[in-house]
Amino acid sequence: MTEKQQWASRVGLVLAMAGNAVGLGNFLRFPAQAAQNGGGAFLIPYLISFFLMGIPLLWVEWAIGRHGGQFGHHSSPGMFDVMGKKKWLKYVGVFGLFTNLTVAAYYCYIESWTLAYTFHSIIGTFKSTKPTEFFPNYLGQTADSLFALPGEATFWFVLTLFLNVWILSRGLSKGIELAAKIGMPLLIVFGAVLAVRGLMISPTDPGVVQSPLEGLNFVWNPDYSGLTNPSVWLAAAGQIFFTLSVGMGSIHCYAAYVGRKNDIALNASSAGWMNEFVEVILGGTILIPIATAYLGLAAVQTATKGGSGFGLGFLTLPTLFNNWGWFAPLAGAMWFGLLFFAGITSSLAMGQPIMAFLQDEFKMKQKGSALTFGAATFVLGFFCVWLYPGGSFDEFDFWTGTFSLVVFALLEVFIFAYIFGMDKGWEEITRGADMKVPEFFRFIIKYVTPVFILVVFLGALVQPANGWADAFRSLTSGGGWPFSASSVIGKILHVGETTAWFDANGKGTATLVKDVTRMLLCTVFAAVSVLVYKAWKNKEKHA
Ligand code: PHE
Repeated sequence: MTEKQQWASRVGLVLAMAGNAVGLGNFLRFPAQAAQNGGGAFLIPYLISFFLMGIPLLWVEWAIGRHGGQFGHHSSPGMFDVMGKKKWLKYVGVFGLFTNLTVAAYYCYIESWTLAYTFHSIIGTFKSTKPTEFFPNYLGQTADSLFALPGEATFWFVLTLFLNVWILSRGLSKGIELAAKIGMPLLIVFGAVLAVRGLMISPTDPGVVQSPLEGLNFVWNPDYSGLTNPSVWLAAAGQIFFTLSVGMGSIHCYAAYVGRKNDIALNASSAGWMNEFVEVILGGTILIPIATAYLGLAAVQTATKGGSGFGLGFLTLPTLFNNWGWFAPLAGAMWFGLLFFAGITSSLAMGQPIMAFLQDEFKMKQKGSALTFGAATFVLGFFCVWLYPGGSFDEFDFWTGTFSLVVFALLEVFIFAYIFGMDKGWEEITRGADMKVPEFFRFIIKYVTPVFILVVFLGALVQPANGWADAFRSLTSGGGWPFSASSVIGKILHVGETTAWFDANGKGTATLVKDVTRMLLCTVFAAVSVLVYKAWKNKEKHA
C-alpha cells in the first residue's frame, strides 16, 4: 500500500491548483487568441464562458475529485466508477488519463523551449543571433527532411522531463506543493516587472511606432460585436477550457487529496480567479502592448496567426527586448523564466493523475510511478520533437489539448448532474463550503453548462470555412456544407491538403505525419482503456 498523501496547507493547495491552471496558456495562447479574435470583442464571450462554463466545471471537478478521494481513488477511472452503478462509467475516466499523458508530451516540449530560452537570454545569444533564425533551427525546421531529429531541442526536452520526474517523485507536499509555493510568487513578480516596464515604453523611445497603451486598449476595450460571431465564441470557450485545465482530469486528481469536510467551493473559486487575474491582467499586459509599441497593432495581429502565440513569444519578444539595453538579458530571463514556472506547475499537474492511477490500481511506489510517467512522456513527446516540422505537435495540441477536453467535460457534467444526481452533487459541492454558493448555479450546472458545452462541441465539429451565414446559404442552395480546415470534420477529411502519404519523389508528406500521429494517439487511448480493464479485473479477483 502506498502512504496516504495530503496537502500540507490550504495556501499550498490553492497555489498548487492555481499553478495547475496558470500556464503557458495564460501568457502565450490567451494574448494570441485575443488578438486573432478582435481583442475586446473576444473578451466578452470569454468572460461569459468563464461564468457559465468555467466556474461550474471547476466546482464539478473539485467535487468529483474530493468524492472519489474518499473511496481511495485519485485518478478519474475510479472516481467515475464510484459515481454510479453502471460499469461503463470507469471508461469515461480513461479520458482523464489519456489527456494528461498526451498533453504532457507536447506541453513539456514547449516548457523545454522556455528553459532553453532562459539560458540563451542569460548568455546573451539573442544579441548576436536573430531569434527568427534561432527558433526554426532549434526546432529542426531548417533540415531538408521532415524526419531529422533536432539535437539541442532533444537535450532540453530530456532535462525538462528529468526536472518534472524529480519534483513528482518527492511527493505531493514536498514536491508539487513546494514547487507552486516557489514558482507562483516568482512568476507574478516577473510578470509584474515586465508589465510595468512594457507600459513605461514611451512613444518617443527609439524604435517605438505606437504607444503600448494602444495594445492594452485593443485587448481590454469591450466590443460587443464578438457576441454575434460563433467563431469568436468557439475560440473563447476553447481558451477557457485550456486555461482553467478543465476537462483534463488533473483538477480531479488534486482535489482527491482534500479531506471530506474541507472546503472546495471557495478554494475552487480562488484558484479560478487567480488564474483569470494572471491571464487577463498580466497575460494581457505583456506580449501585446510591448509588441504593439515596437511593431504596431496590425503587425501584432499578423504575428499571432494560428493563435498559439509562439511567434510573438519566441521570435518577436527576445528581439524587442534588445531595445532595453542592459536590461535586455534580464528581461529575457524573466520572460522565459516566468513561462517556465508557469509551465512546470502545470505539467506537474498532468503527471500526478498518471502516478495516482499507477499507485492506486497497480500498487506502484512514488518513485516508480514518477519514472513511468517520465518514460511514457518521453516516448510520446519524442514524436512531437522529432516530427514537429511535419505538424505532429499541432495534431497533439488539437486532438488532446482541445478536442478531448470538450468531450470529457461534456460527459462529466452529464454524469454529475444526471447519473450521480444534482441533489447529491450540490451537497458535495457545498459541504464544508467557506462561501455561500449562489443557488442559481444548481440550475446552471444542470441545464446551462451541458447545453453550452454541447453547442461548443457541435460548433467545433462543423465549423465552416467562410463564416456561418455563407455556409447556411451554401447548404440551402444545394452546395453542401463547406467545412473549415480547422473544424473537427475538416481535419479528419484533410480538407485543403493532400491525402497522399508520399509525394511524387517518394518523400513522406505532412499528411503522413499527421495520420501516424493520429494512429499513435488512438493506440494510447486503447492502451489506457486496457489498463483500466485489467485493473478492475484484478479488483474483482481480490474482492
Ligand atoms: N491550464 C494550463 C495552461 O494554461 C494548461 C493545462 C491544461 C494544464 C491541462 C494542466 C492540465 O497552460
